[in-house]
Amino acid sequence: MKPTVLFTLLASGAYAAATPAIPGYSPRTRGMNPHHHAPLRLLHTFTPISTSGKSFRLLASSTESTKGGAILGLPDNDLSTVRTTIRIPAAKMPTAGPTANNTVGEYAASFWVGIDSATDACGAGGSLRAGVDIFWDGTLGGQQTPFAWYQGPGQADVVGFGGGFPVGEGDLVRLTLEAGPAGGEEIAVVAENFGRNVTRADEGAVPVRKVRKVLPAEAGGQKLCRGEAAWMVEDFPLQGRPEFPTALANFTSVTFNTGITLDDGTEKDLTGAEVLDIQLEAQGGRLTSCEVVDDRNVKCARVVGDN
Ligand SMILES: *[C@@H]1O[C@H](CO)[C@@H](O)[C@H](O)[C@H]1NC(C)=O
Ligand SMILES: *[C@@H]1O[C@H](CO)[C@@H](O)[C@H](O)[C@H]1NC(C)=O
Ligand SMILES: *[C@@H]1O[C@H](CO)[C@@H](O)[C@H](O)[C@H]1NC(C)=O
Repeated sequence: MKPTVLFTLLASGAYAAATPAIPGYSPRTRGMNPHHHAPLRLLHTFTPISTSGKSFRLLASSTESTKGGAILGLPDNDLSTVRTTIRIPAAKMPTAGPTANNTVGEYAASFWVGIDSATDACGAGGSLRAGVDIFWDGTLGGQQTPFAWYQGPGQADVVGFGGGFPVGEGDLVRLTLEAGPAGGEEIAVVAENFGRNVTRADEGAVPVRKVRKVLPAEAGGQKLCRGEAAWMVEDFPLQGRPEFPTALANFTSVTFNTGITLDDGTEKDLTGAEVLDIQLEAQGGRLTSCEVVDDRNVKCARVVGDN
C-alpha cells in the first residue's frame, strides 16, 4: 500500500477527530502501525541545503528546513578530524504545538556530526557522518532505545555501530570523524561512550566502550572534499514513509561540544560558523533554537514557533 493511501485511511480513524488534520501526523491505531514489532529507523536521505560553487548559502530562515545546528565552511579543504561530544537526550512526546499529545504517535530526532554532509559544497558527492537517533513511540510505551550510526562515501543509508557499542539516554558520547590528509585511501569514524556518570569527556576520562570503523575514502564514485563541518539536529522521515518528516520529538535541549583539527595540526573553533534552525510549518514553525556558545559549543533547544 502506498504511504499516501495509508495516511488517508488513518486520518479517518478514531483519533483523527481530536487532532488537527496534518498529513503524516495522523494518529494510528495499534494494529496499523508498521513499526509495531520492528525497531524504529529513520530514513537518512542526503538532501543538501543549497550550494553555489565552493561556498554555500543557507536558505532564508522563513524557508522550510529539516536541519538545525551549525555549519562551518573550510575554504582550504583541509579538515582532518571533526568531533562532537553530546549527552544523549531523552525523547519525549511534545506537549505543545500541532504535533502535541499524540499518545499513539511516533516522534524522533537525529543528532549528528558530519564532514561535507550538510551542503554538497564542492560537488564531490561524498559525506562522512556519525550520529545518534532517539525515538518515542506511543504504541510501544514511550521512549525507545537510541540508535547510534555512521555513514561514509558511497553508503546509501546509515550503518548501526551494532551490539558492540550500546548507547542509552543520558550517556555521554564522543564521535570523531577522521578524514585524514588529502590523498589518503582510508577514513574512519571513532565512537566512544563514557556512560551516564561522567561530566566531561576530556583528559582522564576513559570510555566504557570504544569502536573504530575504517571506511574507504572513495566509494561509488563519491569522495570527500573536506571543506565543511556540521553539527546538526535533524528531523528525518521514518523508513517506509519518506514523504513526511517524522514529528520531531521533544529532546528539550542538546549541546554539541565541538572540535576541529586541520591537516597542519591546528585546532579550530566555531568562529564564522552559520547557525540555522529546523523550520517546518506543519509542525508549528521554528522547532529549534540553536546558538553557538563560547565558540566551542552548539546548543539547540526544542521550541515551537518563536517562543
Ligand atoms: C519539552 O520538555 C520540556 C521539559 O519537560 C518542557 O519544558 C517543554 O515545554 C517541552 N516542549 C514541548 C514542545 O513539548
Ligand atoms: C498536552 O497535554 C498537556 C498535559 O495534559 C497539557 O498541559 C497541554 O496543554 C496539552 N497540549 C495541547 C496542545 O493540547
Ligand atoms: C552511576 O551512578 C549511579 C547513581 O549514583 C550508580 O547507581 C551507578 O552504579 C553508576 N554507574 C556506573 C557505571 O558507575
